Amino acid sequence: MDRLHINGGVNLEGEIRIAGAKNSALPVLAASLLTHDSVKVCNMPHLFDITTMLELLGCMGVQRVVDEKMNVQVDSSMIENLNAPYELVRTMRASILVLGPLLARYGRAEVALPGGCAIGSRPVNQHIAALKSMGAVIEVENGYIRARSDGKLKGSHIFMDIVTVTGTENVMIAATLAEGQTIIENAAREPEVVDLATCLNMMGADIKGHGTDTIVVDGVDELHGCSFSVMPDRIETGTYLIAAAATRGHIKVKDTRPHALESVLSKLEQAGAALRVGEDWIELDMRGRRPRAVSLRTAPYPAFPTDMQAQFTALNAVAAGTGSITETVFENRFMHVHEMNRMGASIRVEGNTVIVEGVERLNGAPVMATDLRASASLVIAGLVSENETTVNRIYHIDRGYECIEEKLQSLGARISRIPVR
Ligand code: EPU
Repeated sequence: MDRLHINGGVNLEGEIRIAGAKNSALPVLAASLLTHDSVKVCNMPHLFDITTMLELLGCMGVQRVVDEKMNVQVDSSMIENLNAPYELVRTMRASILVLGPLLARYGRAEVALPGGCAIGSRPVNQHIAALKSMGAVIEVENGYIRARSDGKLKGSHIFMDIVTVTGTENVMIAATLAEGQTIIENAAREPEVVDLATCLNMMGADIKGHGTDTIVVDGVDELHGCSFSVMPDRIETGTYLIAAAATRGHIKVKDTRPHALESVLSKLEQAGAALRVGEDWIELDMRGRRPRAVSLRTAPYPAFPTDMQAQFTALNAVAAGTGSITETVFENRFMHVHEMNRMGASIRVEGNTVIVEGVERLNGAPVMATDLRASASLVIAGLVSENETTVNRIYHIDRGYECIEEKLQSLGARISRIPVR
């Protein structure tokens, strides 16, 4: 398992390009199962999770051609297997996204039940209940979700008990080929849900209300192919901006979508960053200033994203003052805190809140990454530390950040990957 070696203390400076969004590319790839035509997905990030999704589609019989620009042509005309095996689902929970399209197009699917993970128990009961209300017969046995439907799924009026991103996506995908109208209330409003709906509409679906908490899908007989470019990754964007703010740097991120990051940008301004924003770029200047601690609370979009919570904890760790960070989406997303305290941070956990008292500086240490965003926060902590930090188990980071060490190197960071056999 590779490690990242960081010699901290450099103010990040320069420009980087943001990759396509992992959490948009994954459902879009799953949605390609809905049609016999081929779907071209552009602006795909070069990430482990994408490779896993392509492998999953491949083992179902989907033909995939990836060009040198990471555009992927997916052809689902020859599906021979409607099963998502445990070996793949356990490495990527987003595999659950094939349940909706398989059921809608083939009336049958078998998907290993995703287990809990480092950030919480993460059940999929909402996905299952919604698909059942559309007429699917679903049993969970021997660790598998076995689903079938006699004939087409039926449109239904669904009230999601909680806001779930992949739950909304699974149901929205399934509803495109259902008989009649499906209304999803308390739907997730995340930009990635909107991106998926845009792609589905380009494939001939009839979806309205995406981006609000009520999505209305009128089922159609069939969908066709399209060419779709996934949106820029807002979490990657925010992560580099926070890294620049924490190191008192000055960077410009390009090919991004500032509008999808309003809650994050507002917190960065509260932390003292000077921001300039264009249509597809953001420039952050923190030169000569220590960040101020900020308080925040995670919640579904448009509120502050849980996927940026750990990175802000790293920023607060070296900020002036005390900030509190409350996590309301996942029950166990503070694993990075103990590692940061080993680096000299002063953070205490009180229930679902962490209280962060900013210290002047952190000290490098060997630390261990436990999940994707926690890993990113430890890299930020390493970048602001005196001396050397080694981040172990970085396979987590490769799931969601494309070429992280190269991008940080181009901003002046002293960071390198140490391959470990
Ligand atoms: N939940 C249930 N039942 C369900 C579904 C969800 O109780 O049937 C709970 C979860 O346990 C959690 C909350 O609802 O407490 C929200 O979970 P959600 O379903 O929205 O999360 P997800 O769809 O599994 C996506 C992203 C995550 C991101 C969350 C929240 C993808 C592939 N994953 O997960 O991204 O944190 O939404 O915004 O879109 C990441 O990229 O690092 C990541 C974890």
